[in-house]
Amino acid sequence: MKQQLGPGVAIIGSGSAVPEAAVDNQDLSQIVDTSDQWIVERTGIRSRRLADAQGSLTAIATAAAQGAISMAGIAPSELDLIILATSTPDDLFGSASLIQAQLGAQRAVAFDITAACSGFIFGLVTAAQYIRTGVYRNVLLIAADVLSRWVDWSDRRTCILFGDGAGAVVLQANECDRLLGFELRSDGNQNSCLTLPYQGQPRALTPGVSVAQGTYQPISMNGQEVYRFAVKRVPEVLEKALFRAQLSAEQIDWLLLHQANQRILDAVAQRLKIPSQRVISNLANYGNTSAASMPLALDEQVRQGKIKSGDVIAASGFGAGLTWGAAIFQWGR
Ligand code: UT7
Repeated sequence: MKQQLGPGVAIIGSGSAVPEAAVDNQDLSQIVDTSDQWIVERTGIRSRRLADAQGSLTAIATAAAQGAISMAGIAPSELDLIILATSTPDDLFGSASLIQAQLGAQRAVAFDITAACSGFIFGLVTAAQYIRTGVYRNVLLIAADVLSRWVDWSDRRTCILFGDGAGAVVLQANECDRLLGFELRSDGNQNSCLTLPYQGQPRALTPGVSVAQGTYQPISMNGQEVYRFAVKRVPEVLEKALFRAQLSAEQIDWLLLHQANQRILDAVAQRLKIPSQRVISNLANYGNTSAASMPLALDEQVRQGKIKSGDVIAASGFGAGLTWGAAIFQWGR
């Protein structure tokens, strides 16, 4: 019941979608100098799904959204707001409106937000504010990324990590507030650790005025720095959010982290003394799907019947920006 301003918030449905094509570590070892053993030992990743040239962010995001809306038991026309958390929209002007049209959610206002791999947590907290202030009742949050478009497929340090996917949840105004606590953080001083930067060449337009035209450059990451950042900051931010929720780590049913690396999941769980059977992990099958990774893992666990109504989930995302954050919530109404 913490941080409640207006009506409470409940998370009442989830959905997910991934592209069909699977690429395993053995396949990748044909492209770059790597091995299944190295990738599994250092990351826990065994396979990932990649969107082909016909695939789109909008298509998988819409499919994930349909799953979440259906589980929530509402009609698309009942949605008031759609938030799409992505760093890889099909259109730089945003992809949320197209998804709104494809869902037939004619009443909803739709927009994109960008917070890289923290997009799900940042989106969840943003969505909750509209409900708590009493402005909107039904909010769809989609977190989706197609990072394969921006991976340097000749860089073995990064190309083995990422996969494509989409996840979604429906939040609804509720008598009881199921969002128990949260904390969001960013630190632009560490921005250069993980980037997908625009780079343009000067093009003279008139004497004295030139513009920069080009494109985005592939993902560049200082893996060790990001690893150190994650294992330090994620337990801290989870502890802060747990404090706000007036809960201790022993009281949570599930730890849901951004699925970047099994070693990060293990280190965070160990710091918080959370037993491994309570740690949600599906990165072996999907790799790091950026914003999508958390709702993708959440949806899988819900559909397998492991997460039950009332279960307390401690969730934390982290990534480029650098950004990181945590939210403690109870599943269901
Ligand atoms: O979603 C955003 C958040 N991102 C993350 O959380 C990523 C965080 N970082 C990591 O997960 C890890 O740092 C990596 C998985 C990216 C790398 O693991 P590492 O244990 O930090 O490896 P490293 O970068 O220290 O590299 C160790 C060695 C190097 O060789 P030398 O210099 O020791 O001879 C690398 O060149 O492993 C080499 N290496 C590889 N070898 C085989 C790097 N990538 C590969 C590869 N296959 N794919």
